[in-house]
Amino acid sequence: MAIRMRKLALLAAPLALLSQLATAALRDGRPHANVMRPPGIPTVQLIAPETPVISRNGTELPPYNTTYYFDQLIDHNNPSLGTFKQRFWHTYEYYEKGGPIIISTPGEGNADGYFSYLTNRTINGQLAQQQNGSTIVIEHRFYGFSNPRPDLSVESLKLHTIQQAIDDLVYFAKTVNLPMPGGDQITPDKAPWILIGGSYSGALTSWTLVK
Ligand SMILES: *[C@@H]1O[C@H](CO)[C@@H](O)[C@H](O)[C@H]1NC(C)=O
Ligand SMILES: *[C@@H]1O[C@H](CO)[C@@H](O)[C@H](O)[C@H]1NC(C)=O
Ligand SMILES: *[C@@H]1O[C@H](CO)[C@@H](O)[C@H](O)[C@H]1NC(C)=O
Ligand SMILES: *[C@@H]1O[C@H](CO)[C@@H](O)[C@H](O)[C@H]1NC(C)=O
Repeated sequence: MAIRMRKLALLAAPLALLSQLATAALRDGRPHANVMRPPGIPTVQLIAPETPVISRNGTELPPYNTTYYFDQLIDHNNPSLGTFKQRFWHTYEYYEKGGPIIISTPGEGNADGYFSYLTNRTINGQLAQQQNGSTIVIEHRFYGFSNPRPDLSVESLKLHTIQQAIDDLVYFAKTVNLPMPGGDQITPDKAPWILIGGSYSGALTSWTLVK
């Protein structure tokens, strides 16, 4: 039975991918190869992600699925090229001053739905709960709606490098003003930051540490 299911899954995956390719489009309708992929890192089903989050002291915080936008540098080697909007999700449900800022990216895919990694259904949120931390999920450049360039031309893809992705994480940490009380006082010189990842984003985590 398990083997038969596996065969079916092997067949279903390319078919699903084809149907997604056929419908892949940017918000303005232009076709785009940037498709939703079958999740490599699983998302977690939340019961009501659109309802307010209740912090420890009873304050109502924005829902987990609130999307925020960070002004990220298009090219870290040439900041004069300006910025693009990089999507992220965030909560300070368990945060107390001095706690860590816990960040992860789902990596090479549209990050929609991964806001579940803000919650204590995942190790990120468990750490936040235990250590009084705040959690962030950030979309990787060139995926979903975090695109430094309007297309996937060879010229644009020159900005799709590991080093630029590392620099995105570093620039975000050093620059972001998190939408929470004291959110401008949490840069890595003032608060501990924890980067977590699995698969490609796990490798990216190690490379960020090394670099
Ligand atoms: C959050 O989820 C609700 C219910 O599914 C939806 O109406 C709302 O548009 C979502 N908000 C965002 C920012 O995605
Ligand atoms: C409750 O927590 C919120 C968010 O961290 C904070 O802004 C507020 O001052 C706190 N209120 C009390 C009474 O501690
Ligand atoms: C997770 O957090 C919720 C509050 O959002 C709390 O009610 C629940 O007890 C926590 N679960 C665990 C396993 O700590
Ligand atoms: C978390 O915050 C609470 C309340 O301020 C404090 O009592 C506790 O020691 C903190 N925990 C950690 C791990 O810092």
